Amino acid sequence: MRITLSADSARSVAADLLVVGVMTTRFDKGEVAEIDKALGGTLTRWAKDEGFEAKRGQVLKVPGGGKLKAKWVVLVGIDGRDAGDHARAVGHAAAKASERQKSAALVLPNRSAASIRAASEALVLGAYRYTQMKSKKSKGGLGKAIILVPKSSAELKRAVDAGVAVAESINFARDLVNGPPNVIHPVALANAAKREATKLNLSCTIWGKKQIQKAGMNLFLAVNSGSAIEPRFIHLVYKPRKKNVPKIAFVGKGLTFDSGGLCIKPPKSMLDMKCDMAGAAATLGIIFAAARLKVNVEVHALVGSTENMTGAAAYRPGDVFKSLDGKTVEIINTDAEGRLVLADVLAWTRDNVKPDAIIDHATLTGACMVALGNYRAALYTDDEKLAKGYHEAAMVADEKFWRMPLDQDLRPSLDSAVADLKHTGAPYGGSITAALFLREFVGKVPWMHLDIAGPAFLDGSHGRAPKGGTGFGVATGVRFLESF
Ligand code: BES
Ligand code: MN
Ligand code: ZN
Repeated sequence: MRITLSADSARSVAADLLVVGVMTTRFDKGEVAEIDKALGGTLTRWAKDEGFEAKRGQVLKVPGGGKLKAKWVVLVGIDGRDAGDHARAVGHAAAKASERQKSAALVLPNRSAASIRAASEALVLGAYRYTQMKSKKSKGGLGKAIILVPKSSAELKRAVDAGVAVAESINFARDLVNGPPNVIHPVALANAAKREATKLNLSCTIWGKKQIQKAGMNLFLAVNSGSAIEPRFIHLVYKPRKKNVPKIAFVGKGLTFDSGGLCIKPPKSMLDMKCDMAGAAATLGIIFAAARLKVNVEVHALVGSTENMTGAAAYRPGDVFKSLDGKTVEIINTDAEGRLVLADVLAWTRDNVKPDAIIDHATLTGACMVALGNYRAALYTDDEKLAKGYHEAAMVADEKFWRMPLDQDLRPSLDSAVADLKHTGAPYGGSITAALFLREFVGKVPWMHLDIAGPAFLDGSHGRAPKGGTGFGVATGVRFLESF
C-alpha cells in the first residue's frame, strides 16, 4: 500500500473512499459538516435511518452521488480512548471498508505526527491477509491511501514511514506464525531471519545442531531429540551509530511445532501448535522494526528453534539433563518444552551478550490463557523500571499486558528428588511456575518474561487483531526501545 499526505479538502480529494472518523452524529463541525452540506444533509438522514450512533467500531457507507470527488463516504465511530486510538480506528476501517475500491482518503480527528503514525500503522495492518498457501491470490484491497493534513511536512512524512515500518514488521511476524509447520520449520525460520537481517544490515549468526551441542545447550537439544529436523540457534544484532547506549536482549521461544512430545497433546490442542514460534516471530519483528526506526539502543535478538516431536530418540519423562548453566533438570512432562529451550538460551544470553536487560517472549503456558484470556499477555519481572516502561509503551502501542507475581511460595514445587530442579511445578499457577523456572537461568540480569500464549494466535478476528497469527508483542517492544 502506498500512503501519501495531501492538503486537499475532503470535498475535492480524488479517492474511491472518503473515510471520516466521527465522535457524534451531530455533523456540525469541521470536514464532516462540509461533507454533509455538500451532500444536502444525506449523512445526517442516513445515520438516523441506519441507526448509526458513532459508537466504537460502527461504520456507515454513504454514496458520494457525484457531489464529492470521492465515490463513497465511510463514517467510522471512534469513541475510543485517545487520539491514537481514533486514528487507528480510521486507518483500520479504511483498510477493511471494501474489497473492490482501490483508494481511500482519510479524515482524522487529530493530525498530529502521532496520529498520522498510528493511522498509517493501522492501514498496513488492516490490509494484512495470509495468502501464501492459496493458489489463487485475490487482487482486492486498498492500493493507495491519502491522509488529509493541513500541510505536509518532513516530520509528518517520517511519521508515515514509522507507522509503515512497525506494521510491516508486525506483518512479517504474522506471516511466520501463520506459515504451516512443514514450511516454517527451524531451518526455514533461521533462513527467513537471515534474509531479512541481511537486507537491514544486521549481524546474524546461526548455529546448527553441532554448534549447539558444542556450546552445551543440553536442555534445548533434549527437546529437539524426537525431531527429524535440525534445531537452529539464531542471534541477530542491531547496533546504532550512537555510542554508550543501553544493550537490550530479546529472547524468543521458537517451537515451529509442539506435538507435546511423548506426553502427546490431544488432536484439538495440537492443531494450532504451529503458533508455538510466535515468541520468536515477535523477537525478530522487534529487532527489524528497531533497525528501521534506528532506535538508540543496541538490540540483540536470540531465538532457540526446534520442533517438539515423538520418536525413538525423543526425550522422556524421568530423564535428567545438565543445562548450559550447569544445573541438572529432571524432565516431568515433555510438553513443558518451551522453558527448557528458553533456559539454555537465557543462560547463553546472560553470559555471552551480557545485556543490561533480557526480555523474553514465549507462547509458554495454557495456564496463562486460563488466567488472562485470549487478548492479554502476562508480564513477569522483579524490575520496577522495566515493568513501568513496558506498561507505558503498551498503552501507546495498543497492546495489553498484565503484571503477574513471581510468587516465591510456589518455588519449592520445582525442587526435584533426583536433580537440582524439576521443570514443572505445582498443579495450580502453571504460568507462574513456568516463569519461576526461567528465572533460575537469568542470574542477576534485569529480566522480564512475557507469556503471549493467549494473544499471539486467535481463533477469530477480534477488534483490530486478525484471525491466526497477530504479531503480538512487536508494537510494544519497539515502542519500549524508542523510549531510550
Ligand atoms: N506451547 C504450549 C503452551 C500453549 C498452549 C501455547 C496453548 C498456546 C496455546 C506449551 O509448550 C505447553 O504445552 N505447555 C503445557 C505445560 C504443562 C505441560 C506443564 C500446558 O500449558 O499445558
Ligand atoms: Mn508444549
Ligand atoms: Zn510449547
